[in-house]
Amino acid sequence: MTVHKVGQDISVLNDCLEVPGIGFLPVNAFVLHAAEPVVVDTGVGLPDRDFLGTLGSVVDPADVRWIWLTHPDRDHTGGLFALLDAAPRARLVTTFLGVGIMSTERPLPLDRVYLLNPGQTLDVGDRTLRAFRPPLFDNPATTGFYDDTSRACFSSDCFGAPMPTAELASSDHAGDATEEELRDGQLLWATVDSPWIHNVDTAKYLATVQAVREMEPEAVLSTHLPPAVGIAPRMIDTISGAPGANPFVGPDQAALEQMLASFEPEGTPAAPVVPG
Ligand SMILES: [Fe+2]
Ligand SMILES: [Fe+2]
Repeated sequence: MTVHKVGQDISVLNDCLEVPGIGFLPVNAFVLHAAEPVVVDTGVGLPDRDFLGTLGSVVDPADVRWIWLTHPDRDHTGGLFALLDAAPRARLVTTFLGVGIMSTERPLPLDRVYLLNPGQTLDVGDRTLRAFRPPLFDNPATTGFYDDTSRACFSSDCFGAPMPTAELASSDHAGDATEEELRDGQLLWATVDSPWIHNVDTAKYLATVQAVREMEPEAVLSTHLPPAVGIAPRMIDTISGAPGANPFVGPDQAALEQMLASFEPEGTPAAPVVPG
């Protein structure tokens, strides 16, 4: 994992996964160094990752007061239980549905949970975080937030974009990609992660995009995009076009067999990792 800093207040814990045929997808967690430190998501759970060790390079886990789980997909929950153990004072911010979904794998300790819905706020000592439902999402528990002190919008899966190279996916600024790479990646990801975008009332969808525009965020911090500072208007324009993007169709069995045939005969490759 790679660590970046955004301004004085935010650390980015960056990971990256190669998705065949799609590109290199960033998988970020964040630390908001508020008076009461907030960890936002906890990375992937692959056995060679050490989320807690990487987190410990930017904050003492024992000092963490809030773990904001934007949604309980497995690319967001990797270090969750290790962090709950290492951060005994931390409360886990999620929704009723987040708790329910987690209960199908490993139940959350309910006395550690703090239920917060989009539209509600969380006081973290020196600032108030405003929870909102991002315009694009793949899980009904999804809750991002806006911090008007750092002017950062934590958008969960929304605004994600696979990058053409691992270097770009691990960059400290989404603007290192060309405008075309960023736009194409964000539209692709919108159709992969939120296929419902083709079936909804466009005006109602655009009203949710407008709500983000009115935040006037300086930084947009997506789980699946390098940190993006100073380019929010352009990215908001891009996702406004998502209803008109080509629907995503994944590889079928014939494509899989072609892929397998291209590998050396000594072994079947591991199943591809497709984060959500
Ligand atoms: Fe995700
Ligand atoms: Fe997701």
